[in-house]
Amino acid sequence: MPELAYVNGRITSVEEAVVSVEDRGFQFADGIYEVVRTFNSKFIDLDRHLARLERSARMLDLPLPMPLAELEKVCRDLYARSGVPEAAFYLQVTRGACRRQHAAPPGLKPTLVMTVRAVTTPPPPYFTAITVPNNRWRLCACKAVALLPTVLAKHAAIKAQADDAIFVEDDGTVLEGASDNVFAVKDGTLYTPPADGRILEGITRGRVLELAAALGVPVRVESFKRDFLLASDEVFLSSSVLTVVPFVRIDGKPIGGGAPGPVTTAVRQAYWDFVREHTA
Ligand code: PDD
Repeated sequence: MPELAYVNGRITSVEEAVVSVEDRGFQFADGIYEVVRTFNSKFIDLDRHLARLERSARMLDLPLPMPLAELEKVCRDLYARSGVPEAAFYLQVTRGACRRQHAAPPGLKPTLVMTVRAVTTPPPPYFTAITVPNNRWRLCACKAVALLPTVLAKHAAIKAQADDAIFVEDDGTVLEGASDNVFAVKDGTLYTPPADGRILEGITRGRVLELAAALGVPVRVESFKRDFLLASDEVFLSSSVLTVVPFVRIDGKPIGGGAPGPVTTAVRQAYWDFVREHTA
């Protein structure tokens, strides 16, 4: 059951995989990525992830190495060879390798990297978080590999003995977690910030919104402030890798008495039912 890597057509172990020191992903973070979760040896929402990859590529005027249908086949072939049933499938495209210069020369061949890594199932039962100032760029709708603010936010969270960091604007507007989307529940209504360019429009977020509506939970996609978040009855995150995880404490304050709430539990269950149904 090997974990595998792919670099421009060459398949090796993850340890053996290499890219050029002149790759623009390494030099400039000039690239985009996706993380797709697999369950029971099947991808969840690979089509939606590849569609978002294409949108990210367009935002950076970054050519993809091959048409999307072909890319999907390459993903499926690599994954089938790995035989890891519960995996995080990582896919990265950079603008390619060239002598270091800020503007890329025309005609560069994009670099395509993929890895298949085993993940533990199920995800943690709950998380704690701190809020951090949003010091990211204006292209957060693009899933770019330039993630230094995220790395620093995660370091700050771990230093504060929390699991995650939630980005908040200077005016208090809540955006999203370091690598996940954020939901709040108040008086039975589910709230999540809009995909207005300041967050990544998560694939799991989309599924959660669909599933919550199907459960009959009132949903409001609108901005809210840190005060509202901390006074919420429930808060949870969504991401492909973690699925749905409740936050039981934020900035040291217990949320909803410090235990996962009923809406979170129902949404989490609905997501796992959806996963089971689509990977049976
Ligand atoms: N992160 N917001 C940000 C900033 C993210 O990086 C991610 C995903 C999400 C959730 O998106 P999705 O539901 O499509 O996974 C939201 C991945 C998992 C990562 O960087 O590892």
